[in-house]
Amino acid sequence: MKYIFFMGKGGVGKSTLSSLIAYKLAKRGEKTVLISLDFAHNLGDIFNMKIGNKGVRLEEHLDIFEPDIDRWVEEYLRNTRVLIKENYKYVSVFNLDNMLNLMKNSPGIEEYAILHLLYEKTKALADMDYLVVDMPPTALALRIFALPFITREWLKTLLKLRKEILVKRERIANVHGKEKFDFAVDEHEDKVYRNLKEQEEENAFLLKLIQGANIIPVTLPVQLSFKETERILKKLSEFKLNVPFVIVNRVKNDEWKKGCVCIEDKEVKTFDDFEREIKFQDFDNIDSEILQL
Ligand SMILES: Nc1ncnc2c1ncn2[C@@H]1O[C@H](COP(=O)(O)OP(=O)(O)OP(=O)(O)O)[C@@H](O)[C@H]1O
Ligand SMILES: [Mg+2]
Repeated sequence: MKYIFFMGKGGVGKSTLSSLIAYKLAKRGEKTVLISLDFAHNLGDIFNMKIGNKGVRLEEHLDIFEPDIDRWVEEYLRNTRVLIKENYKYVSVFNLDNMLNLMKNSPGIEEYAILHLLYEKTKALADMDYLVVDMPPTALALRIFALPFITREWLKTLLKLRKEILVKRERIANVHGKEKFDFAVDEHEDKVYRNLKEQEEENAFLLKLIQGANIIPVTLPVQLSFKETERILKKLSEFKLNVPFVIVNRVKNDEWKKGCVCIEDKEVKTFDDFEREIKFQDFDNIDSEILQL
């Protein structure tokens, strides 16, 4: 499956362009999924229909989803609760509910939940050709892209620490007699170790997905939007992510094009065709190079 992510400042046209591309790909016969990872979905407004969590098949080859992100966050927290309860019995000494209430507002939770949602959806839709993603506004989108890199380092360290614990346990078991020792000493028997390994697998999958994806920043031909795009490009290049080009949306004349081409040496595509409000019947007339991605 190929992945295309649209990102950028609020209101630049992420939803419009991701809808357009998904529609065009589907018309070309590619099995396409369009998904919004924004809390404030607006694909439904664009297609003028209720889409929701379960999704809608719009065309023979186009499925659209607007997952209920709050629900994914809740579910993520619920699963975490079960995991903590099962794996870390000593945590019952603390007030687990209090801890989870705190977690609800902790940084990173939304990003983890959204990445988990992306993982589940991608696994479930593995036989599709394209996944087109309408990302939330810049700050959250960048944190979502960064998280698998950070998680990889965390998991590496946690797995190492857990291994050290298991080695120490084994030594104790050897002294006291294994039959009397009530803790797992083996990596395969230790639930915590196994769980960390599962997380590592999911994270590696997401990392590969993001590293193989095309990320397309969208900007308006105005200074503020350009500045933000520069920051986006800088961040994405720190992680060596693929940015095939930048789209400058709502370009009204050639003057702007000249100004646009200088964004961090990135090639810029424009959609001059979009001078009026988009109507779906216009889509077939747009000669989009994005279709070659
Ligand atoms: N090329 C265009 N020509 C005319 N109108 C456009 C064009 N691109 C987007 N618009 C309009 O601009 C508005 C914002 O576009 P859109 O909703 O796609 O942006 P967005 O980046 O998804 O915004 P948000 O951050 O709020 O989700 C919409 O009313 C849309 O119809
Ligand atoms: Mg939008």
